[in-house]
Amino acid sequence: MTRKTVRIAMNGVTGRMGYRQHLVRSILSLREQGGLDLGDGTVLWPEPVLVGRREHALRAIAEQHGLEHWSTDLDAVLADPSIEIYFDSQVTSAREEAVKQAIAAGKHIYCEKPTSTSVAGAVELARLATEAGVKHGVVQDKLFLPGLQKLRRLVEGGFFGQILSVRGEFGYWVFEGDWQSAQRPSWNYRAEDGGGIVADMFPHWDYVLHELFGRVRSVQALTATHIPQRWDEQGKPYDATADDAAYGIFELEGGAVAQINSSWAVRVNRDELVEFQVDGTHGSAVAGLRKCRVQHRSATLKPVWNPDLPATETFRDQWQEVPDNADFDNGFKAQWELFLRHVVLDEPWQWDLLAGARGVQLAELGLKSSAEGRRFDVPELSL
Ligand SMILES: NC(=O)c1ccc[n+]([C@@H]2O[C@H](COP(=O)([O-])OP(=O)(O)OC[C@H]3O[C@@H](n4cnc5c(N)ncnc54)[C@H](O)[C@@H]3O)[C@@H](O)[C@H]2O)c1
Repeated sequence: MTRKTVRIAMNGVTGRMGYRQHLVRSILSLREQGGLDLGDGTVLWPEPVLVGRREHALRAIAEQHGLEHWSTDLDAVLADPSIEIYFDSQVTSAREEAVKQAIAAGKHIYCEKPTSTSVAGAVELARLATEAGVKHGVVQDKLFLPGLQKLRRLVEGGFFGQILSVRGEFGYWVFEGDWQSAQRPSWNYRAEDGGGIVADMFPHWDYVLHELFGRVRSVQALTATHIPQRWDEQGKPYDATADDAAYGIFELEGGAVAQINSSWAVRVNRDELVEFQVDGTHGSAVAGLRKCRVQHRSATLKPVWNPDLPATETFRDQWQEVPDNADFDNGFKAQWELFLRHVVLDEPWQWDLLAGARGVQLAELGLKSSAEGRRFDVPELSL
């Protein structure tokens, strides 16, 4: 085996997503398994160069994981011709500027969603990257979750017949930060810092719906800021200016209707933090992060509405578990592997910055829908 090194500037690795999912669970995990086997006698060895604003935090991560390269000087890192890929998981509001800089430096781009705080900015990034001839991608990790992979298998196997509706329930209680610390960063709750559950989650719902069921044709949403005051990382109270819940209805190409609730102000009475129920003429499924259960029409009970009697059936027991039938790796790592193969082997890749811009567009139209009390068509984006 020959080893080929690919150097990746990773900006935002001191953050939650950058550190845990992208550095530790993806890039370092690839190194632990000996690199990425390209199947042609070559192993690809990812070499991260940690980039950020806080020297001590970067040095601590580098030391903890035995990494040699880190820098607080993004310009210098981008000027280094040995670095081929720029990865960005900074706060959303810092992304567009840094990605533009990396495109201008000729780096391939991989980044977290949302790719920008505006659809105009997101499309501009896609256009610039395409014109520069660099490879580009956006994280769409939910597609690689075991539960959604099983759901995709059901769709592709024709299990549902005609798909009628999709109902998604996402959310959990995010502590306010006073008597128990909040488990998400405070910028998520400030609109002026790029926060809000619509900006955070609608990009996910866009690609999940698009890839599994059909392009989103229209959106109607009602947002709320249920918890108006929160406490930040320093224990200081602040006004929550961003939406912390969104109730959305999406019309899909092909005729199905999707309805997804997203909330950081609900308590979980589900099996998983996100669940999608899909109902079709021939069968239904409920998929979460890992599990997926189905009920075929041949096994569908005939319930009769009678509130005078207690329920005689335990409805949830009548569903059947879909087997794994595969080994599912971490979803972020699985997508990283495909992106690296796209960069070095030119293998097909569909999750590019234009796909990222579609997610930003859905978020922007969702917010506009809520503000104006109207339903909006979602036009197809192009460069
Ligand atoms: N794919 C997913 O499921 C998923 C989940 C959560 C967050 N995200 C996205 O990942 C990105 C990072 O989110 P996170 O939860 O890791 O956030 P975080 O606050 O934990 O991390 C933010 C990172 O950006 C850096 N940063 C750069 N400029 C900054 C500034 N001006 N202010 C504050 N921090 C700054 C921080 O140092 C840190 O490394 C966001 O764009 C978010 O939308 C994606």
